[in-house]
Amino acid sequence: MEIRAALLGFGNVGSAIARLAARQPRSASHTIRIVGALVRHSAHRKHADVPLTSNPAALLDAGPDVLIEVLGGLEPARTIVLEALSRRIPVVTANKTLLAEHGAELSQAAVRGGVPLYYEASVIAGVPFLGTLARRPLTSTVTALTGIVNGTSNYVLSQVNRGADLGSALADAQRQGFAEPDPSKDVDGIDAAEKLAVLLQQFAQLGVRPREIEIGGIEGLTAADFAPARRFGGTLKPVVHAEWSNTTWSGFVGPAFVTWGNPLAALKGTANGISLRSVSGDLLFAGPGAGPDVTAATVLDDVLEAVANPRTPDSCRHRTITQIPLSTKWFVRLTSTASLPDGADLADLLGSYGVWVQQTSSTEAQHGKDARWLLTYACTRHRIERALAAVSAASTCSAFLIRALEAPSE
Ligand SMILES: NC(=O)c1ccc[n+]([C@@H]2O[C@H](COP(=O)([O-])OP(=O)(O)OC[C@H]3O[C@@H](n4cnc5c(N)ncnc54)[C@H](OP(=O)(O)O)[C@@H]3O)[C@@H](O)[C@H]2O)c1
Repeated sequence: MEIRAALLGFGNVGSAIARLAARQPRSASHTIRIVGALVRHSAHRKHADVPLTSNPAALLDAGPDVLIEVLGGLEPARTIVLEALSRRIPVVTANKTLLAEHGAELSQAAVRGGVPLYYEASVIAGVPFLGTLARRPLTSTVTALTGIVNGTSNYVLSQVNRGADLGSALADAQRQGFAEPDPSKDVDGIDAAEKLAVLLQQFAQLGVRPREIEIGGIEGLTAADFAPARRFGGTLKPVVHAEWSNTTWSGFVGPAFVTWGNPLAALKGTANGISLRSVSGDLLFAGPGAGPDVTAATVLDDVLEAVANPRTPDSCRHRTITQIPLSTKWFVRLTSTASLPDGADLADLLGSYGVWVQQTSSTEAQHGKDARWLLTYACTRHRIERALAAVSAASTCSAFLIRALEAPSE
């Protein structure tokens, strides 16, 4: 059977989809033919195999079996996808920005149209786990998740761990094609926050916007932070984390100290992974980071699924539950041009604000400053920031802090 698919977007991913579709074996039970693709200015461009257009209505009017959305961004992607769903055309998208902002609206439209809306490629496209778990509602009863969902920042931090500074690690990632020409959404955590929002929709039935999530970027970390992290029994990784109950949820995006017992600590370079606390125990999905070819393969698998095994979204309404402050351990760097307070005095001062020190690294000189790293016991951000403000006021030092996570079983 031939599946006629229309493409929104013919950039990195769209053109990889067309290349892969053209290479399918003729013996396959279903083959996908790309019947047209939307680009901005079709008059300036020709493609031998795929008719290009800048008129979205023409693509929908041709009545494709499936619409593939790889335009990126919010508009016109949202309007065209809603129109397709209202015409009962199944939609496959790789666009986490669109899903993070309008996931509920799109799911409701898919339910109304009685057609699938598949988005496996929107979060760690190289590791197909969203569709797998969507077909297993009991296994996918999840109450917490921790993941590395941005291959660029994992690669950059892996290089910083090896002694590189952040700028040259990023330039290296761009040279190798792992990072966009403008990598700010990767570095500042926005890309990861959009993916966490999609994950919260699927696993927690929560409509959380990226701007409602605590987001930290990786730019404050230096190579010097990794040696104390090793002494504390772990390393530093760019993570997303969330946990929820029937009434509350909390979470964050940003670089974090993770213990060696945490399976995410072993994911190096551009690798991605996600650990889910489910009714069947802790599930780990891990694999390579996504590039256009991997993303194209996942998108086309979704197209085949949408036709051979269609499933309409079953949870299109999001719960409204309260966001509460997340309590975690903290990895703290203190630096001072004068000398830092004595370890016992520091522990006493932090303790007077309810922050308890678990481990301290010995003081080291860093660029003419004294530097010391601490690992604390769990407390909220508000509590540690108040305690560190008191330390800074008492000793003219400055503090850099990131969250610290333990392995699920620790
Ligand atoms: N790149 C990856 O490895 C990857 C991995 C996973 C998911 N994704 C997601 O896949 C999506 C596409 O990524 P990409 O890297 O392929 O982006 P891209 O290279 O920038 O391609 C975007 C395509 O959409 C077209 N387009 C954008 N705005 C348009 C508008 N207003 N009207 C008509 N056409 C428009 C562009 O047309 P022109 O060609 O005329 O400019 C271009 O063909 C994004 O949502 C991204 O997050 C990408």
